[in-house]
Amino acid sequence: MQREQTFVMIKPDGVQRGLVGDIISRFESKGIKIVAMKLVAVERQLAEKHYGVHKGKPFFEPTVKYITSSPVVAMVLEGVNVIEMVRGMTGATDPQKAAMGTIRGDYGQFIGRNIIHASDGKETAAFEINLWFTSKEIAQYSRIDEVWLQE
Ligand code: CMP
Repeated sequence: MQREQTFVMIKPDGVQRGLVGDIISRFESKGIKIVAMKLVAVERQLAEKHYGVHKGKPFFEPTVKYITSSPVVAMVLEGVNVIEMVRGMTGATDPQKAAMGTIRGDYGQFIGRNIIHASDGKETAAFEINLWFTSKEIAQYSRIDEVWLQE
């Protein structure tokens, strides 16, 4: 298992509903390192690029509108096997199907308001990190608890 980075976005509903602190807290408590983070009022062009793979699908336009409707919190998280781990913590895309204990399972009800986005694989993570952040915005540091996290 490799050390890797993933892109996470707390969507407008997560920010508006005051869930930012709780969501970040879950990642911190798990020992996942935040290496970049910012609040972004997303422009249409960025939203269209981010959801480019879904262009032409019926939910593309509503999703672009949703993501540009109010600020999001964008971040880069780092850790061993972090892409899969964060997808697990996020839960199924549809909050109705997401397991309790996951972010979407605990806080969401509808697929069009599913609180959070997380990269679904290595290539997507690289694309999304590069789309949302410059290399200067990504920090390199050690967390003081790292020695207690691993065997
Ligand atoms: P996300 O993980 O960000 O990836 C695509 C987003 O499109 C998804 O979460 C939802 O916010 C939104 N969406 C809306 N309807 C659908 C759908 N039927 N299938 C997949 N994604 C959808």
